[in-house]
Amino acid sequence: MTTPLLDASRLVRREIAGVSVADLARQHGTPLYVYDADMIRRRCRDLAAWDTIRFAQKACSNLAVLDLIRREGVLVDAVSTGEIHRALVAGYEPHAAPGTASVETLPPAHPIVYTADIFDREALDAVARLGIHVNCGSADMLEQLAERVPGAAVTLRVNPGFGHGHSQKTNTGGEGSKHGIWHEEIPEVLRRAEWAGLSVSGLHMHIGSGADLAHLAEVAGALERIAHEIGRSLTTISAGGGLPVPYKPDEQHADLGGYFTLWDAARKRLEDRFGHRLRLEIEPGRYLTAEAGSVVTEVRAVKRQGSRKYILVDAGFNTLARPVLYGSYHPMSLCPAAGGEPDGIEEVAVGGPLCESGDIFTQSDGGYVATRPLPAASVGDLLVIEIAGAYGFVMASNYNSKPLPAEVLIDGGSARLVRARQTPEDIVRGETV
Ligand code: LLP
Repeated sequence: MTTPLLDASRLVRREIAGVSVADLARQHGTPLYVYDADMIRRRCRDLAAWDTIRFAQKACSNLAVLDLIRREGVLVDAVSTGEIHRALVAGYEPHAAPGTASVETLPPAHPIVYTADIFDREALDAVARLGIHVNCGSADMLEQLAERVPGAAVTLRVNPGFGHGHSQKTNTGGEGSKHGIWHEEIPEVLRRAEWAGLSVSGLHMHIGSGADLAHLAEVAGALERIAHEIGRSLTTISAGGGLPVPYKPDEQHADLGGYFTLWDAARKRLEDRFGHRLRLEIEPGRYLTAEAGSVVTEVRAVKRQGSRKYILVDAGFNTLARPVLYGSYHPMSLCPAAGGEPDGIEEVAVGGPLCESGDIFTQSDGGYVATRPLPAASVGDLLVIEIAGAYGFVMASNYNSKPLPAEVLIDGGSARLVRARQTPEDIVRGETV
């Protein structure tokens, strides 16, 4: 049953960054990822106070996005050989040009940092061959690196003993997390680093993704304490990522100014203690790209299961996995195929094409199907799933042998295809009968 609410138009969206949603779908097909370049630039500039913004590219690693971010002066994090390769192709240098060291100037920043808890063999080869700086999340990594790059300077990723995230699956601190070097192990790890002939130049903590600022703020104090244990060899400290973005209508942007002030004060106290400058880094993924990205998908069926109404679209959890993985909420709006305003709002569940019950975009944590108020939809209308620019395309899969979607970047009012949709041949490439 539709309720004729006045604000149906609030949930109608006909344009993304000045380009018609219908034209995007006509030209590039659906499902389609669309990014707004200006929104990404704005989010980069929000963090200008930090010495280094290091993009956790795992959030959105399309080459065009990396190139745009590089032009904003943002550096990059890589967690695999594939991400190192992407950074290089997007124009990042593998390592910093040697700078002139002085106590008054900031040390040069590493354009690419490899952050992980292990080296697989190809990643170890890549960092050794290219001279890429490593952020080590386990003591084993130190010895493996020292064997290949004697005398290297490294960053330690420390697990401060607490963590927080929007889901337990994105909490990367505390005993429940495999990430980082346990905070109580630091004296032992420093001995192992020294024995291996490595110097510790960086200290990094990342307690989780989508944490709230109150939890993130606790990290500054924990990092300061560990920095005292490491001492004067430190030249860089990193607050990690985790900055939240508002997904739900009642959520707001966090106070980034206050967050920077807190970290800057910790940095200054450490500078006074060590007698030299310290570079202060932040490592956001979600914050830079989430709000810039949308999935455009087409309504292919509208049906009722008992008392519940379902809208089935051509995007599924193969396209955007966050709802099935974490019960994540993504705002949605409708772009009706026919002109004119929709005649009311109704409560619907939104699902995709996959042969699996969990293929539902409106679900809560635990897999319970929920509903969402949306304008009455018909086959052929387009649905825009919003705030999908972080952990969207990068977590898409070929499940059910569906092609990875196309990606489009809109800049200055024009849309450019930055990744072609996969073809059936792409899907079976490398397989033999
Ligand atoms: N630094 C490190 C070491 C990380 O592991 C991560 C994210 C980040 C930075 C960036 O965190 P962000 O600023 O984006 O919160 N797939 C999940 C998120 C997983 C995050 C993994 N690590 C999601 O869709 O919510």
